Amino acid sequence: MNAKSRVIVFGSINVDLVAEVDRLPGPGETIKTTRYSALPGGKGANQALAAARNGAVTLMAGAVGSDGQGPTALAQLRSAGVDLTAVGGVEGPSGLAMIAVDAGGENQIIVVSGANDAATCAHLPELGQSDWLVTQNEINWTETAQAHQRARGQGASVIHNTAPAHRLSAQDMAQINVLIANEHELTQAAGFEVARAVSPDEEARALLTAGVGAVVLTLGAKGAALYQGDEPVLTVPAVAAEVRDTTGAGDAFVGALAAALAAGEALPDAVATANRYAARVCEVLGAQTPPALLQTPEF
Ligand code: RIB
Repeated sequence: MNAKSRVIVFGSINVDLVAEVDRLPGPGETIKTTRYSALPGGKGANQALAAARNGAVTLMAGAVGSDGQGPTALAQLRSAGVDLTAVGGVEGPSGLAMIAVDAGGENQIIVVSGANDAATCAHLPELGQSDWLVTQNEINWTETAQAHQRARGQGASVIHNTAPAHRLSAQDMAQINVLIANEHELTQAAGFEVARAVSPDEEARALLTAGVGAVVLTLGAKGAALYQGDEPVLTVPAVAAEVRDTTGAGDAFVGALAAALAAGEALPDAVATANRYAARVCEVLGAQTPPALLQTPEF
């Protein structure tokens, strides 16, 4: 294990306004419920929390607003020991996500960016050669792309989770050591027409040819697939879970994978570790479940 490796997450920090509903509303429809919670969230923050809970020395870089929501948004990160010195405070609202979760654990999410739009890579500390920078797509892409270039220039490695979906340029692809995407995000990242029938296998191989170091394709209940170099695809089956809320499961996967890589695990083992952790997170409400509710002593 490399004790000096850190996980540096640059990304979004939100408060999630979660309504539990029997079923998700259709367009123009109003649904009533009595079950509501305000919970910490944001893809970046969720990933940082997962990295810390999986044992990584973790720093979060991003921004919260002056609306009083910052302490709620940062509460779990703080208690997990995540370094928050690179989280800036800006005038105006914090990032908010309005989330409906149905009885089967499926969700609908609307994100209001707020302070996340002011997150800048100027907040990032100097990275070392053994560090892992983790990014997603909920903050300004120009800042994220600059962060990738800086990290690679400093000898660090880059894990990019292309969520929400975003098309990557050839230059972007060349900066990414590990790309994590679901099937829809993979298609968008590779720049293929969504309507055109191209297999995930071809899309992942196209990304590798374009310079991405490795592609991890997340497949929900079917697990994950790893594409690396010319090696045959490695499929890692999902871990059984009693799903209550899938919100943040992908983020938990990303953070756990980063922590495993920072701890020196090989990528195939890190994917298996991430699968196990994501399954546990699906069993409870919210993207940043308090450790006691995970009911898994190791977390
Ligand atoms: O991936 C789940 C996250 O997406 C939620 O926590 C919400 O804040 C949105 O960013």
